[in-house]
Amino acid sequence: MGNNEKRNTFKGSLGFVLAAAGSAVGLGNIWRFPYLATKDGGGMFLVVYLVLALTFGFTLLMTETAIGRKTKQSPLTAYGALNKKWRHLGILACIIPAMILPYYCAIGGWVLKYLLGYVTFNGSAAAQDGYFNAFISGMAEPLIMTLVFLAAVVFVVIRGVNKGIESFSKILMPILLVLVIVIAVFSITLDHTDDSGITRTGMEGLAIYLIPDFSGFTLEKFMTVLIDAMGQLFFSLSVAMGIMITYGSYVRDDANLNSSVNQIEIFDTAVAFLAGIMIIPAVYVFSGREGMSASGPGLMFVSLPKVFDKMGTVGEIIGALFFAMVFFAALTSAISIMEAVVSSLIDKFSLGRTKAALIVTAITAVLAIIVCLGYNVLYFEAVLPNGSTAQILDIMDYLSNNILMPIVAIGTCILIGWIVKPETVVDEVEKTDTKMGRKGLFMVMIKFLAPIMLTVLLLRSLGVF
Ligand code: ALA
Repeated sequence: MGNNEKRNTFKGSLGFVLAAAGSAVGLGNIWRFPYLATKDGGGMFLVVYLVLALTFGFTLLMTETAIGRKTKQSPLTAYGALNKKWRHLGILACIIPAMILPYYCAIGGWVLKYLLGYVTFNGSAAAQDGYFNAFISGMAEPLIMTLVFLAAVVFVVIRGVNKGIESFSKILMPILLVLVIVIAVFSITLDHTDDSGITRTGMEGLAIYLIPDFSGFTLEKFMTVLIDAMGQLFFSLSVAMGIMITYGSYVRDDANLNSSVNQIEIFDTAVAFLAGIMIIPAVYVFSGREGMSASGPGLMFVSLPKVFDKMGTVGEIIGALFFAMVFFAALTSAISIMEAVVSSLIDKFSLGRTKAALIVTAITAVLAIIVCLGYNVLYFEAVLPNGSTAQILDIMDYLSNNILMPIVAIGTCILIGWIVKPETVVDEVEKTDTKMGRKGLFMVMIKFLAPIMLTVLLLRSLGVF
């Protein structure tokens, strides 16, 4: 098992932080965070999310990174290295990224299609009614885009930890941050008068986003906000997907985990927050409050192109910048998702990187094709426990995100909190002569609060209440 002696490491803390931030900042930040924030009372969601990020998110992120660095193993074998009886949790932690990767690549393919549309000044076509549905239910195009996206992912993964993941993250993440800031500033400076003479401004949209809306506030509503924020945080920080264990295993023993984890948290939360500033004012200005109810694909591939279209030529440029930014965010996240599986195969079966990556790519390609055909020859409508209608992509997302991830996270909390003890993580963090920040909080979270909160989240996802 394992080829530890030649295990690659990130060259520096910055490389690790940017790679982990690249993993964390993804579609979750861009298409779910702004939607949840408007649905769940603006500022109220932001405050709950921030508190959870600093407590619950911090605990899981620190734990997984420390498990990775301590064991120098990827998820498939890391849990067993901590305690043999818990090795099965590693299998589950490895199945999750394997399940997410195919549909993440399918969505990456959609992003690529839109990016190509905007850079060739053809963006206005995307604003036509029915454009998105016609595209995804088509036969060849979504498949080709998905496979091209997958090829870009495997290209970076095969190049390895330093020349691939670290170098690409160091280039793409600063560009992404600049793009997000430019588009966010542009969005709040917008104003528009519609056909009925009503003028709306970006600043009004910003106020809707930031000012807490306590109207109709009940305990039930607060529970919804809490559960939404927790589910979002999970996906957004890339925890319980095996990724942070994998990336942690590449962190050098002399790197400061404490500050690195803080920086990753800040980066991910800042981009999610900025994504709201980028999207909510723009959608409000051109589509009013009604336009703000779209989420996920509806928001990114239907509502936003209509907004860009109303901006005229400037909209083509902003659309191109926006989809370039989403493309980079999706690419760096998909790279980390693939790396978690590839690295697991390398550690478990002592495979070469290229061979492991090609095996994962072949399996992912088959599953991704099935996901794409889910809008065509394999179309059906299922109903999820939360009442929403689902196709193959949504079912895979629900299973991984809402069921398997909470299970792995609960298992991780029990293993660390009660079996190998939280000191394992604390000692790993303090190995470099730094005191672990928020240590008391960490102890309480990992042993009690996080497993309880996760169980509530799981029961809710299963439709128990
Ligand atoms: N953390 C990644 C995202 O937010 C997976 O999309």
